Amino acid sequence: MKTRIVHAACVSSTQDVAREMMPREIGTVIVADAQEKGRGRRGHVWLSPRGGLYASILLRSDPLLSLRVGVAVARALQQAGIVARLKWPNDVLVAGKKIAGILIEAADGTAIVGMGVNMDSAPLPAATCIVDETRASITRDALLDSILQEIQITYEEDIIEAYRALCATLGRTVRVNIAAGKEVTGIALGIDRDGHLLVDDDGATCTIAGGDCVHLDTRV
Ligand code: BTN
Repeated sequence: MKTRIVHAACVSSTQDVAREMMPREIGTVIVADAQEKGRGRRGHVWLSPRGGLYASILLRSDPLLSLRVGVAVARALQQAGIVARLKWPNDVLVAGKKIAGILIEAADGTAIVGMGVNMDSAPLPAATCIVDETRASITRDALLDSILQEIQITYEEDIIEAYRALCATLGRTVRVNIAAGKEVTGIALGIDRDGHLLVDDDGATCTIAGGDCVHLDTRV
């Protein structure tokens, strides 16, 4: 995949800039210095002051894209000396604190893959950032390049195996909100070949395609 990187100063959301591009060429990446209306999954706000990585990439839709990009971001952070792991499906954590998040939106068959990485500061107490986790220094653009390379690599490997190796959720006691008022609590048993989370629900295995997952035990 050939990539073309478009830099912006401050935008509302790189997701919106990517959506408005016509034609939407696969491999186009929008990277902004800051966002005024950064958004996260499930209607959350993504605080986006200067000093973070905020990027959206246009990619072909793929049912495992969310896991693929999570693996790529975690590996790029590991190369920067950070012990990054994934909370299902694709929150990137360091010792239980969130360092990066991924939001995938659809636009006429194309996926707009948004990635936010806390670099210079952590916007919330439950979050962390690169400068707090490593003495090694990495620039935003070097980190973005590394993520883009890692995304390419995931197309050449067994993404489910790669994902399982980085997943901090496996074996943990979790609570997953799967729909309004519906949640499952139990031990995370595995990730199936579709990327779904398997949770022990009182002796029955519940297969979860999507939802908000919370790690209930204190292990990091
Ligand atoms: C999450 O909730 O964990 C996903 C956060 C995704 C944030 C990124 S920053 C770049 C892109 N633009 C946005 O408005 N959101 C995504």
